[in-house]
Amino acid sequence: MADAGAALESAPGRRRRPGTGTTDVAKWDAYHSGPEPPPWESGSFCSHLAAALPRAKVAPGATALEIGCGGGQNTVYLATQGLHTAGVDVSRKALARAATNALPPGVVAVDDLADLGAVPGATGSVCFHHADVLKADDLNRLLGAKALAGGVELLFDTQTFHVLRGVDEAGAAAAYARLVAPGGKLIMLCGAVGDPERTEPGPPALTKEEATGAICAAGFRLDACSKVRFDSTPTYGAVPPLAWLVEATRE
Ligand SMILES: C[S@@+](CC[C@H](N)C(=O)[O-])C[C@H]1O[C@@H](n2cnc3c(N)ncnc32)[C@H](O)[C@@H]1O
Repeated sequence: MADAGAALESAPGRRRRPGTGTTDVAKWDAYHSGPEPPPWESGSFCSHLAAALPRAKVAPGATALEIGCGGGQNTVYLATQGLHTAGVDVSRKALARAATNALPPGVVAVDDLADLGAVPGATGSVCFHHADVLKADDLNRLLGAKALAGGVELLFDTQTFHVLRGVDEAGAAAAYARLVAPGGKLIMLCGAVGDPERTEPGPPALTKEEATGAICAAGFRLDACSKVRFDSTPTYGAVPPLAWLVEATRE
């Protein structure tokens, strides 16, 4: 890996200080346009999302949003589970990759948020949308779409909150809260501290309080927070970094 980057710059046990990062679009674009997939991508959807989704009890036909969707595998997975799902990313290179995902029968891709959930006969629909979730104008645009107005029933994030909190922790948590309707669910994975088995650089490693404190202060009730490992990737190898799997409900 040539550039460890913000997502992979903290050595195990060394936490990144809040307020020292930036949403560096050029860097994210570079990750998404290199010859190899980004180091955090397993090539499939997140196994922890698949495990947590039944616990969230989101009704078929509900709306979902993935923040920092990257290559879009998880956004598409949510659509295959009968949801109308928008994948949002600040990197247009990521969104271009995401749009190339194959879709199973019954799942349709729509170009515009306005068409999410509006195609007759589709069991799930998926839209990839450019937005910086730390920007109020972008959030307002998202929530201005009919399907997303009032917030979504499910918000999913893997490996993005731990980046965003380095730019604006309270702002990121507030954005997550705005995007979810009351009673809606959050499923989130972020790096976790305390990994004696890894010596390679990995994602930012958060304490449990860092993974959940700002989210709860913004209006989520914590349902569960368990320590897992991210799925294996060619870069992560056989023992991927530790992660917090955060499951929460919007108050
Ligand atoms: C470490 S990657 C994780 C990507 C994806 N969730 C995955 O696991 O494959 C973080 C993603 O967040 C996106 N991102 C960073 N800052 C963002 C922001 N302010 N708004 C939206 N997306 C952002 C990046 O472009 C990148 O695709």
